[in-house]
Amino acid sequence: MSESARDLARRLLNSTGEAAPAKPQRPRRGPGRQFADHPEVAAMAHKRASIEAVYAQFGMPNPVFLTRESPNDTVIRWQGRELVNFGAYNYLGLGNHPKVVQAAKDTLDAYGASASASRIVAGEIPIYIELEQRLARMYDVGDALVTTSGYLTNAGVIGFLLRAGDVAICDALIHRSVVSGVQWAGARQLSFRHNDPESLRSVLRMARGNFDRALVVLEGHYSMDGTIGRIDELAAVAREFDCAVMVDEAHSLGVFGETGSGVREHFSMAGGEVDLWMGTLSKALGSCGGFIAGDADLIGAMKVSAPGVAMLSGGPAPSTIGAALAALDVLDAEPQRLTRLWSNAELFHTLLAARDIDLGVSERTPICPVLVPQEFRAGYVSARLLQHGIYAGAITAPAVPVGSERLRFFLTSEHTDDQLRHTADQVADAVEAARELPDLGGMN
Ligand SMILES: Cc1ncc(COP(=O)(O)O)c(C=O)c1O
Repeated sequence: MSESARDLARRLLNSTGEAAPAKPQRPRRGPGRQFADHPEVAAMAHKRASIEAVYAQFGMPNPVFLTRESPNDTVIRWQGRELVNFGAYNYLGLGNHPKVVQAAKDTLDAYGASASASRIVAGEIPIYIELEQRLARMYDVGDALVTTSGYLTNAGVIGFLLRAGDVAICDALIHRSVVSGVQWAGARQLSFRHNDPESLRSVLRMARGNFDRALVVLEGHYSMDGTIGRIDELAAVAREFDCAVMVDEAHSLGVFGETGSGVREHFSMAGGEVDLWMGTLSKALGSCGGFIAGDADLIGAMKVSAPGVAMLSGGPAPSTIGAALAALDVLDAEPQRLTRLWSNAELFHTLLAARDIDLGVSERTPICPVLVPQEFRAGYVSARLLQHGIYAGAITAPAVPVGSERLRFFLTSEHTDDQLRHTADQVADAVEAARELPDLGGMN
C-alpha cells in the first residue's frame, strides 16, 4: 500500500476498524421544514457531512460543485490555479469560441436578455425559426422546435405524447429526463438490455399487445458509458411492432457523422426512420436549451399545446439561440475540429488501455468512462487528480448503478497530446492508490 493510501485508511477508520460516520438520526418535521424527513433531504445532509469529513481529514479538495472562475475550456481556473479539464461536454470547444461568444453578444444587443414572454404571446423572434429550420434540415425532417432545456424537452415531449394505457420502451441506460417524461405522462415504462435489438424484440413480443401507443426511446451516444446507440437496427425492430421511435441526440449532435450531424448521418439513415429526434444546445453547440425535430404537423401541435415545451413557458433567451446558430456555422466552416475530437478520443483510450485501466463498455468515443467501483474510491481518484491539476468528475449512484461508479472524461477537439499523456499517467497512479484503500465498513 502506498504511503498516501495507508494514511487515508488510518484517518478514515476509527479504532474499532469500522467506518467513522455514524448512522443518521431521522430528522423531525417542523414549521418551514416540512420536508426535513424527505428521504433525499435526510440522506443528503448526512452524506454531505461525511464526504466533507473524508476530504478534510485527508487534506484533499472536495471536487463536487467545483466552482471555476473561467470559461469551461480544456484549461479552467480554480482557486487561482489552472486545471486541465475533462468535465465539460464542450466537445468542439465552441462554448468559448470567439464567433459564438460574439454572436451571443450581438443577439443580446438586438433582442435583449430575455424573451420576456412565451412564444405564442409576443415572445417570437426570427432567429428561433432560423435555428429550427436549420436543425430540421440537419435531421432531414419537416420541422423542429427549440426550447429552454434539454431535460424539459424529453420530459415535456413524452409527457405530451403518451397517456395512461401507453408504454415507453427504453434502453436500460436511458437518461433520467426520459423517465421523468414517462412519469409525467402516467404511462408505463419497460426497459430492454442496453443497445440489444434481440432484447428489444423479446420485450415487444411479450408486451406490445397490452398497450395502445408504444414509444421506443434511445440515445445516439450514451452519456455515462460512451457507447454508440445502434439506432438503425433498434428502429427497424420497433417498426416491426408498430412502435414510434424517439432518439436523444444530446451527446451525438456535433460528435457523430462526417459533418457532425449526429447519429442519423453516422448510420446514413433517412430522417423519417425515426419519429422524433431530440437534442440539446448545451453540449457540442456550446449554448443552452433543447430541441425536438420531426413531422411538421406534430411539431406544430407541440408548439402550441405541449405544456413546458413551448406553451406556458418563456421562450429561450435570444443570446442562447444566437450562440447556437454561430456554433453551427463554425461546425460547417471548421471540420478539422471533428477530426481532432476523434483523434483525441482514440489517443486517450489507447493510453489508458495500455495502463490496464478499466474502460467498461466504452467504444473509444469522446466519452471515456474510467470505472472505479465504490463511491469513496471514485471520489478519492477525482480528488487526487484535482491535487495534481486535473479535473474529472466522479459519477456515482443514482446516475450509474451501485458498483459501477466511475470517473467520466469528456474529450474535446482542444485537448493537446501532452495534456492527454500527462493525464493518463496521473489516472493510472490514482486508480492504483484507490485500489489499495481498505473497505470502509458500510460506506459504498
Ligand atoms: C442524454 C441526455 N439527454 C438530455 C439531457 C438534458 O440536456 P440539458 O442539459 O440541455 O438539459 C442530458 C444532459 O446532460 C443528457 O445527457
